[in-house]
Amino acid sequence: MPARPRIDDAALPLGLQPRTVFVTGKGGVGKSTVSAALALAWRDAGARTLLVEIEGQASSAAMLSNKKIGYNATPLGEQLCALRITLNDALKEYARLRLKVKLVADRLVSNPIMDQFAQAAPGFRELLVLGKLWALASETDDRGRPKWDAIIVDSPATGHGLGLLGMAGVIARMFPVGPIHTQAKAVDAFVRDPARVGVVLVSLPEELPVTETLELHDELRARGIDVVASVLNGLLVDRFSDAEAAHADELIQSSDDLDPALRHALETVLWEHMRCTDQATERARLEAGLDLPSAVLPYMFAPQLTREHIASLARWFMPAGQERLHAQLAGADDGPAAAAAVHAGEAGPA
Ligand SMILES: Nc1ncnc2c1ncn2[C@@H]1O[C@H](COP(=O)(O)OP(=O)(O)O)[C@@H](O)[C@H]1O
Ligand SMILES: [Mg+2]
Repeated sequence: MPARPRIDDAALPLGLQPRTVFVTGKGGVGKSTVSAALALAWRDAGARTLLVEIEGQASSAAMLSNKKIGYNATPLGEQLCALRITLNDALKEYARLRLKVKLVADRLVSNPIMDQFAQAAPGFRELLVLGKLWALASETDDRGRPKWDAIIVDSPATGHGLGLLGMAGVIARMFPVGPIHTQAKAVDAFVRDPARVGVVLVSLPEELPVTETLELHDELRARGIDVVASVLNGLLVDRFSDAEAAHADELIQSSDDLDPALRHALETVLWEHMRCTDQATERARLEAGLDLPSAVLPYMFAPQLTREHIASLARWFMPAGQERLHAQLAGADDGPAAAAAVHAGEAGPA
Protein backbone atom coordinates (compact mmCIF):
# COMPACT_ATOMS: atom_id res chain seq x y z
CA MET A 1 0.00 0.00 0.00
CA PRO A 2 1.41 3.45 -0.89
CA ALA A 3 2.55 5.59 2.00
CA ARG A 4 -0.14 7.87 3.24
CA PRO A 5 0.74 11.42 2.19
CA ARG A 6 1.03 13.98 4.92
CA ILE A 7 -1.24 16.92 5.06
CA ASP A 8 0.65 20.15 4.51
CA ASP A 9 -0.67 22.62 7.08
CA ALA A 10 0.75 25.57 5.18
CA ALA A 11 -1.31 24.62 2.13
CA LEU A 12 -4.67 24.28 3.87
CA PRO A 13 -7.44 26.38 2.30
CA LEU A 14 -8.50 29.09 4.77
CA GLY A 15 -6.15 27.41 7.22
CA LEU A 16 -8.91 24.86 7.78
CA GLN A 17 -8.06 21.36 8.90
CA PRO A 18 -9.94 18.83 6.78
CA ARG A 19 -13.15 17.38 8.20
CA THR A 20 -16.73 16.93 7.04
CA VAL A 21 -18.07 20.28 5.89
CA PHE A 22 -21.50 21.23 4.75
CA VAL A 23 -21.21 23.99 2.16
CA THR A 24 -24.42 25.94 2.34
CA GLY A 25 -26.12 29.25 1.62
CA LYS A 26 -28.92 30.60 -0.56
CA GLY A 27 -29.66 29.17 -3.99
CA GLY A 28 -27.32 30.39 -6.71
CA VAL A 29 -24.66 31.92 -4.46
CA GLY A 30 -22.01 29.44 -5.58
CA LYS A 31 -22.32 26.50 -3.19
CA SER A 32 -21.48 23.93 -5.85
CA THR A 33 -18.63 26.04 -7.22
CA VAL A 34 -17.16 26.59 -3.76
CA SER A 35 -17.59 22.89 -2.91
CA ALA A 36 -15.65 21.86 -6.00
CA ALA A 37 -12.90 24.44 -5.36
CA LEU A 38 -12.61 23.47 -1.70
CA ALA A 39 -12.34 19.79 -2.66
CA LEU A 40 -9.46 20.57 -5.01
CA ALA A 41 -7.74 22.77 -2.44
CA TRP A 42 -7.91 20.17 0.33
CA ARG A 43 -6.79 17.45 -2.02
CA ASP A 44 -3.85 19.59 -3.09
CA ALA A 45 -2.92 20.05 0.56
CA GLY A 46 -2.64 16.26 0.86
CA ALA A 47 -6.06 15.31 2.23
CA ARG A 48 -7.89 12.25 0.98
CA THR A 49 -10.96 14.01 -0.23
CA LEU A 50 -14.53 13.05 -0.99
CA LEU A 51 -16.94 15.43 -2.70
CA VAL A 52 -20.56 14.55 -2.01
CA GLU A 53 -23.51 15.69 -4.04
CA ILE A 54 -27.05 15.35 -2.84
CA GLU A 55 -29.90 14.51 -5.16
CA GLY A 56 -31.63 17.56 -6.53
CA GLN A 57 -28.51 19.73 -6.38
CA ALA A 58 -26.71 21.00 -9.42
CA SER A 59 -23.65 18.88 -9.84
CA SER A 60 -20.39 20.08 -8.34
CA ALA A 61 -18.47 16.99 -9.46
CA ALA A 62 -19.38 17.85 -13.05
CA MET A 63 -17.34 21.04 -12.61
CA LEU A 64 -14.27 18.83 -12.13
CA SER A 65 -14.87 15.84 -14.35
CA ASN A 66 -17.09 14.32 -17.02
CA LYS A 67 -17.39 11.08 -15.10
CA LYS A 68 -20.81 9.88 -14.15
CA ILE A 69 -21.18 9.99 -10.40
CA GLY A 70 -23.19 7.38 -8.51
CA TYR A 71 -23.78 6.14 -5.01
CA ASN A 72 -20.31 4.62 -4.73
CA ALA A 73 -17.21 6.78 -4.58
CA THR A 74 -15.84 7.41 -8.08
CA PRO A 75 -12.23 8.58 -8.41
CA LEU A 76 -11.91 11.96 -10.10
CA GLY A 77 -8.16 12.05 -9.79
CA GLU A 78 -5.39 11.49 -7.31
CA GLN A 79 -6.84 11.32 -3.78
CA LEU A 80 -10.11 12.83 -4.91
CA CYS A 81 -13.40 10.97 -5.20
CA ALA A 82 -17.01 11.98 -5.60
CA LEU A 83 -20.35 10.35 -4.94
CA ARG A 84 -23.97 11.28 -5.16
CA ILE A 85 -26.55 10.43 -2.52
CA THR A 86 -30.02 9.78 -3.83
CA LEU A 87 -32.96 9.06 -1.61
CA ASN A 88 -33.64 5.77 -3.34
CA ASP A 89 -30.09 4.47 -2.94
CA ALA A 90 -29.91 5.59 0.67
CA LEU A 91 -33.25 3.97 1.40
CA LYS A 92 -32.17 0.71 -0.23
CA GLU A 93 -28.94 0.64 1.69
CA TYR A 94 -30.70 1.36 4.95
CA ALA A 95 -33.29 -1.36 4.33
CA ARG A 96 -30.53 -3.84 3.44
CA LEU A 97 -28.62 -3.07 6.59
CA ARG A 98 -31.74 -3.39 8.69
CA LEU A 99 -33.34 -6.36 6.98
CA LYS A 100 -30.11 -8.13 6.06
CA VAL A 101 -31.87 -9.72 3.10
CA LYS A 102 -31.11 -7.91 -0.13
CA LEU A 103 -34.00 -9.22 -2.17
CA VAL A 104 -36.62 -8.35 0.41
CA ALA A 105 -35.07 -4.96 1.00
CA ASP A 106 -34.97 -4.14 -2.72
CA ARG A 107 -38.61 -5.23 -3.14
CA LEU A 108 -39.65 -3.18 -0.18
CA VAL A 109 -37.85 -0.10 -1.41
CA SER A 110 -39.18 -0.38 -4.93
CA ASN A 111 -42.64 -0.65 -3.46
CA PRO A 112 -44.39 2.59 -4.43
CA ILE A 113 -45.98 2.92 -1.01
CA MET A 114 -42.58 2.88 0.67
CA ASP A 115 -41.38 5.40 -1.86
CA GLN A 116 -44.26 7.73 -1.16
CA PHE A 117 -43.69 7.35 2.54
CA ALA A 118 -40.06 8.39 2.20
CA GLN A 119 -41.02 11.38 0.06
CA ALA A 120 -43.78 12.45 2.40
CA ALA A 121 -42.64 11.67 5.94
CA PRO A 122 -41.23 14.93 7.24
CA GLY A 123 -37.53 14.76 7.82
CA PHE A 124 -37.15 11.12 6.90
CA ARG A 125 -35.30 11.95 3.71
CA GLU A 126 -32.89 14.26 5.54
CA LEU A 127 -32.29 11.71 8.25
CA LEU A 128 -31.34 9.10 5.67
CA VAL A 129 -28.97 11.49 3.92
CA LEU A 130 -27.34 12.56 7.18
CA GLY A 131 -27.10 8.92 8.27
CA LYS A 132 -25.26 8.11 5.06
CA LEU A 133 -22.87 11.03 5.59
CA TRP A 134 -22.20 9.85 9.11
CA ALA A 135 -21.43 6.38 7.75
CA LEU A 136 -19.06 7.89 5.17
CA ALA A 137 -17.29 9.96 7.80
CA SER A 138 -16.85 6.81 9.88
CA GLU A 139 -15.48 4.66 7.05
CA THR A 140 -12.05 3.18 7.61
CA ASP A 141 -9.42 1.74 5.31
CA ASP A 142 -7.97 -1.73 5.68
CA ARG A 143 -5.67 -0.53 8.45
CA GLY A 144 -8.53 0.85 10.45
CA ARG A 145 -7.65 4.49 9.76
CA PRO A 146 -10.31 6.95 8.64
CA LYS A 147 -10.78 6.53 4.92
CA TRP A 148 -11.45 10.22 4.21
CA ASP A 149 -9.73 13.25 5.70
CA ALA A 150 -12.11 15.68 4.05
CA ILE A 151 -15.73 15.23 3.05
CA ILE A 152 -17.29 18.19 1.29
CA VAL A 153 -21.06 18.13 1.15
CA ASP A 154 -22.53 20.29 -1.59
CA SER A 155 -25.61 20.93 0.52
CA PRO A 156 -29.13 21.98 -0.39
CA ALA A 157 -29.93 25.68 -0.35
CA THR A 158 -31.07 26.96 2.99
CA GLY A 159 -34.65 28.10 2.88
CA HIS A 160 -36.27 28.95 6.13
CA GLY A 161 -34.61 27.36 9.11
CA LEU A 162 -31.73 24.99 9.08
CA GLY A 163 -33.09 22.43 6.63
CA LEU A 164 -30.93 19.36 6.31
CA LEU A 165 -28.61 20.19 9.19
CA GLY A 166 -31.27 20.68 11.83
CA MET A 167 -33.45 17.78 10.84
CA ALA A 168 -31.91 14.97 12.89
CA GLY A 169 -32.45 17.02 16.04
CA VAL A 170 -36.05 17.73 15.07
CA ILE A 171 -36.76 14.05 14.52
CA ALA A 172 -35.07 13.02 17.74
CA ARG A 173 -37.46 15.35 19.56
CA MET A 174 -40.44 14.23 17.50
CA PHE A 175 -39.88 10.57 18.44
CA PRO A 176 -38.95 10.60 22.11
CA VAL A 177 -38.29 6.83 22.26
CA GLY A 178 -37.63 3.90 19.99
CA PRO A 179 -35.20 3.01 17.21
CA ILE A 180 -35.85 6.14 15.15
CA HIS A 181 -35.07 8.25 18.19
CA THR A 182 -31.83 6.37 18.79
CA GLN A 183 -30.75 6.77 15.18
CA ALA A 184 -31.74 10.44 14.95
CA LYS A 185 -30.00 11.27 18.20
CA ALA A 186 -26.76 9.65 17.11
CA VAL A 187 -26.85 11.43 13.76
CA ASP A 188 -27.61 14.74 15.48
CA ALA A 189 -24.65 14.23 17.81
CA PHE A 190 -22.43 13.68 14.76
CA VAL A 191 -23.68 16.86 13.07
CA ARG A 192 -23.00 18.85 16.25
CA ASP A 193 -19.55 17.41 16.90
CA PRO A 194 -17.15 20.28 16.14
CA ALA A 195 -14.22 17.89 15.98
CA ARG A 196 -15.78 16.18 12.97
CA VAL A 197 -18.30 18.49 11.32
CA GLY A 198 -18.50 22.14 10.37
CA VAL A 199 -20.43 24.44 8.10
CA VAL A 200 -18.98 26.69 5.41
CA LEU A 201 -21.32 29.57 4.60
CA VAL A 202 -21.33 30.92 1.08
CA SER A 203 -22.65 34.36 0.30
CA LEU A 204 -22.76 36.96 -2.44
CA PRO A 205 -21.73 40.58 -1.80
CA GLU A 206 -25.31 41.83 -1.84
CA GLU A 207 -27.53 43.11 0.91
CA LEU A 208 -30.05 40.28 1.18
CA PRO A 209 -27.62 37.35 0.91
CA VAL A 210 -25.33 38.94 3.50
CA THR A 211 -28.20 39.57 5.93
CA GLU A 212 -29.38 36.00 5.50
CA THR A 213 -25.89 34.63 5.98
CA LEU A 214 -25.54 36.51 9.27
CA GLU A 215 -28.91 35.16 10.42
CA LEU A 216 -28.08 31.61 9.39
CA HIS A 217 -24.77 31.82 11.21
CA ASP A 218 -26.52 32.79 14.45
CA GLU A 219 -29.15 30.12 14.01
CA LEU A 220 -26.55 27.39 13.43
CA ARG A 221 -24.49 28.48 16.40
CA ALA A 222 -27.59 28.57 18.60
CA ARG A 223 -28.24 24.94 17.67
CA GLY A 224 -24.70 23.95 18.54
CA ILE A 225 -23.58 23.47 14.94
CA ASP A 226 -20.05 24.68 14.30
CA VAL A 227 -19.63 27.27 11.56
CA VAL A 228 -16.00 27.05 10.47
CA ALA A 229 -15.65 29.57 7.65
CA SER A 230 -17.42 31.95 5.35
CA VAL A 231 -16.83 32.51 1.67
CA LEU A 232 -17.89 35.66 -0.11
CA ASN A 233 -18.18 34.72 -3.73
CA GLY A 234 -18.23 36.76 -6.90
CA LEU A 235 -16.43 39.96 -5.89
CA LEU A 236 -15.78 42.42 -8.70
CA VAL A 237 -12.44 44.16 -8.73
CA ASP A 238 -12.96 47.86 -9.29
CA ARG A 239 -11.28 49.21 -12.38
CA PHE A 240 -11.87 52.84 -11.46
CA SER A 241 -10.78 54.98 -8.54
CA ASP A 242 -13.15 57.40 -6.79
CA ALA A 243 -11.37 60.26 -8.59
CA GLU A 244 -11.83 58.63 -11.97
CA ALA A 245 -15.50 58.02 -11.31
CA ALA A 246 -15.95 61.63 -10.18
CA HIS A 247 -14.23 62.78 -13.34
CA ALA A 248 -16.53 60.64 -15.50
CA ASP A 249 -19.50 62.15 -13.69
CA GLU A 250 -18.23 65.69 -14.36
CA LEU A 251 -17.82 64.91 -18.04
CA ILE A 252 -21.40 63.66 -18.26
CA GLN A 253 -22.77 66.69 -16.40
CA SER A 254 -20.71 69.32 -18.16
CA SER A 255 -21.66 68.59 -21.73
CA ASP A 256 -25.04 68.37 -23.45
CA ASP A 257 -23.77 67.20 -26.78
CA LEU A 258 -21.66 64.25 -25.75
CA ASP A 259 -21.34 61.54 -28.31
CA PRO A 260 -23.98 58.94 -27.25
CA ALA A 261 -21.50 56.09 -27.30
CA LEU A 262 -19.14 58.08 -25.09
CA ARG A 263 -21.99 58.96 -22.74
CA HIS A 264 -22.89 55.27 -22.40
CA ALA A 265 -19.27 54.36 -21.73
CA LEU A 266 -19.03 57.01 -19.00
CA GLU A 267 -22.30 55.87 -17.45
CA THR A 268 -20.97 52.33 -17.44
CA VAL A 269 -17.93 53.54 -15.53
CA LEU A 270 -20.21 55.12 -12.91
CA TRP A 271 -22.42 52.07 -12.70
CA GLU A 272 -19.52 49.67 -12.28
CA HIS A 273 -17.82 51.85 -9.70
CA MET A 274 -21.06 52.14 -7.72
CA ARG A 275 -21.59 48.41 -7.86
CA CYS A 276 -18.08 47.79 -6.53
CA THR A 277 -18.63 50.33 -3.77
CA ASP A 278 -21.85 48.56 -2.76
CA GLN A 279 -20.06 45.23 -2.78
CA ALA A 280 -17.33 46.65 -0.54
CA THR A 281 -19.99 47.84 1.93
CA GLU A 282 -21.58 44.39 2.06
CA ARG A 283 -18.20 42.72 2.38
CA ALA A 284 -17.38 44.94 5.36
CA ARG A 285 -20.76 44.20 6.94
CA LEU A 286 -20.25 40.44 6.59
CA GLU A 287 -16.71 40.57 7.95
CA ALA A 288 -17.79 42.72 10.90
CA GLY A 289 -20.65 40.35 11.71
CA LEU A 290 -18.68 37.11 11.64
CA ASP A 291 -15.70 36.17 13.70
CA LEU A 292 -14.56 33.41 11.36
CA PRO A 293 -11.88 32.50 8.87
CA SER A 294 -13.19 33.96 5.66
CA ALA A 295 -12.26 34.10 2.02
CA VAL A 296 -13.36 36.27 -0.83
CA LEU A 297 -13.46 34.81 -4.32
CA PRO A 298 -13.39 36.97 -7.44
CA TYR A 299 -16.09 37.00 -10.05
CA MET A 300 -14.80 35.14 -13.10
CA PHE A 301 -15.87 36.56 -16.42
CA ALA A 302 -16.63 33.50 -18.48
CA PRO A 303 -19.74 32.16 -20.16
CA GLN A 304 -19.24 28.96 -18.23
CA LEU A 305 -16.75 28.07 -15.53
CA THR A 306 -14.30 25.35 -16.55
CA ARG A 307 -12.18 23.06 -14.45
CA GLU A 308 -9.36 25.62 -14.85
CA HIS A 309 -11.54 28.32 -13.34
CA ILE A 310 -12.33 26.05 -10.40
CA ALA A 311 -8.63 25.30 -9.95
CA SER A 312 -7.93 29.02 -10.01
CA LEU A 313 -10.62 29.65 -7.37
CA ALA A 314 -9.05 26.90 -5.26
CA ARG A 315 -5.76 28.82 -5.26
CA TRP A 316 -7.48 31.99 -4.14
CA PHE A 317 -8.33 30.14 -0.90
CA MET A 318 -4.65 30.26 0.13
CA PRO A 319 -3.39 33.05 2.37
CA ALA A 320 -1.20 34.46 -0.40
CA GLY A 321 -4.18 34.56 -2.74
CA GLN A 322 -6.38 36.23 -0.17
CA GLU A 323 -3.77 38.86 0.60
CA ARG A 324 -3.36 39.66 -3.04
CA LEU A 325 -7.07 39.83 -3.67
CA HIS A 326 -7.63 42.07 -0.67
CA ALA A 327 -4.94 44.43 -1.93
CA GLN A 328 -6.60 44.53 -5.33
CA LEU A 329 -10.03 45.06 -3.83
CA ALA A 330 -8.66 47.86 -1.69
CA GLY A 331 -8.08 49.72 -4.93
CA ALA A 332 -4.46 49.28 -5.71
CA ASP A 333 -3.29 51.92 -8.20
CA ASP A 334 -3.03 49.38 -10.99
CA GLY A 335 -6.85 49.08 -11.06
CA PRO A 336 -7.37 48.07 -14.67
CA ALA A 337 -4.39 45.72 -14.73
CA ALA A 338 -5.37 44.08 -11.45
CA ALA A 339 -8.96 43.71 -12.59
CA ALA A 340 -7.93 42.27 -15.92
CA ALA A 341 -5.66 39.76 -14.21
CA VAL A 342 -8.36 38.66 -11.79
CA HIS A 343 -10.99 38.48 -14.48
CA ALA A 344 -8.79 36.48 -16.77
CA GLY A 345 -8.81 33.78 -14.12
CA GLU A 346 -5.12 33.27 -14.70
CA ALA A 347 -4.68 35.41 -11.64
CA GLY A 348 -4.84 32.70 -9.02
CA PRO A 349 -1.55 32.92 -7.19
CA ALA A 350 0.91 30.26 -8.21
N1 LIG B 1 -16.83 33.28 -8.71
C1 LIG B 1 -17.64 33.09 -9.75
N2 LIG B 1 -17.42 33.75 -10.92
C2 LIG B 1 -18.24 33.57 -11.98
N3 LIG B 1 -19.31 32.75 -11.98
C3 LIG B 1 -19.58 32.06 -10.86
C4 LIG B 1 -18.78 32.19 -9.67
N4 LIG B 1 -19.30 31.38 -8.72
C5 LIG B 1 -20.38 30.78 -9.27
N5 LIG B 1 -20.55 31.17 -10.56
C6 LIG B 1 -21.62 30.75 -11.48
O1 LIG B 1 -22.86 31.06 -10.88
C7 LIG B 1 -23.81 30.03 -11.10
C8 LIG B 1 -24.31 29.50 -9.77
O2 LIG B 1 -23.25 28.85 -9.08
P1 LIG B 1 -23.46 27.48 -8.31
O3 LIG B 1 -22.16 27.10 -7.72
O4 LIG B 1 -24.13 26.47 -9.18
O5 LIG B 1 -24.46 27.99 -7.17
P2 LIG B 1 -25.34 27.14 -6.13
O6 LIG B 1 -24.73 25.77 -6.03
O7 LIG B 1 -25.26 27.92 -4.86
O8 LIG B 1 -26.73 27.12 -6.67
C9 LIG B 1 -23.11 28.98 -11.93
O9 LIG B 1 -23.41 29.19 -13.28
C10 LIG B 1 -21.64 29.23 -11.67
O10 LIG B 1 -20.83 28.84 -12.75
MG1 LIG C 1 -25.57 23.88 -6.42
